[in-house]
Amino acid sequence: MSFKDKIVVVTGGAKGIGGACVEVFHAAEANVIILDIDTNGQKLAKKLGEKALYLNCDVSKEKQVKDAFEKLNNQYGDIEVLVNNAGIQRYTTGTDTSEEEWDMVMNVNLKSAFLCAKYAIPSMLKNGKGCVINVASVQSFISQKNVAPYTTSKTALLGLTRSIAVDYAPRIRSVAVCPGTIDTPMLRDAIQLSPNPDDVFQECVDMHLTERVGNSIEVAELIAYLASDKAGFITGQAIRIDGGLGVSIPGSKRD
Ligand code: NAI
Repeated sequence: MSFKDKIVVVTGGAKGIGGACVEVFHAAEANVIILDIDTNGQKLAKKLGEKALYLNCDVSKEKQVKDAFEKLNNQYGDIEVLVNNAGIQRYTTGTDTSEEEWDMVMNVNLKSAFLCAKYAIPSMLKNGKGCVINVASVQSFISQKNVAPYTTSKTALLGLTRSIAVDYAPRIRSVAVCPGTIDTPMLRDAIQLSPNPDDVFQECVDMHLTERVGNSIEVAELIAYLASDKAGFITGQAIRIDGGLGVSIPGSKRD
């Protein structure tokens, strides 16, 4: 796979799955732009060299997204791939979620994808074609307890993916990628909320038919494949990369 001289934008590209996307696209010769609020993105861009750029951008804020894409279009050219990856998790139910928390999760996980697509798609259309990848979750299909705003936002991302695919076909494809548990800073921060992080990590391992959690590079390589011409017949779909999480019937024994 080569993305030679193509412009690829990765939101939340400072670390975790987004950081892995930045590395994978960069290795495939893309010019990679990291939009993040974490200045680790600056260090990653510096490590990768001239074909990587970090822009400090809160992707949940329209003005910041508009300014970032204007700068990219003026200084670097038309965008070919957008990976809407930035996301946050909050552990609340429908009744104990404050309005502020609800809005924050929706804004970072869902509105950001709409905003970045809004400003990236005109540039893709000028370029002739493009691809929008939305990083959703297995929680777009199945839910654990206490994640009401998160699972709602990730389910809605599938609707946005379909709409983009339908509205801009055939020139633009859009695909949602739905990971199971992936070993990233988000996961490590989440398990630290428990008094027994090792037990929680083991529970995560046990949930997957693969008897392990996933790693960021596996997800990034799938994203790069889906964004490439090799996946030119895939659009409007949600693709799970989840180690078989949720496939087995509860209570059934595998051996
Ligand atoms: P992470 O927490 O390790 O990294 C997320 C990145 O997004 C960070 O660099 C953070 O600074 C950035 N970010 C957060 N809010 C932002 C904002 N307002 N503007 C710009 N950047 C922002 O998370 P991880 O695990 O790498 O997750 C990436 C995506 O994958 C998220 O959308 C997450 O919901 C999704 N996902 C993760 C899973 C996991 O088990 N780690 C499972 C399924 C989906």
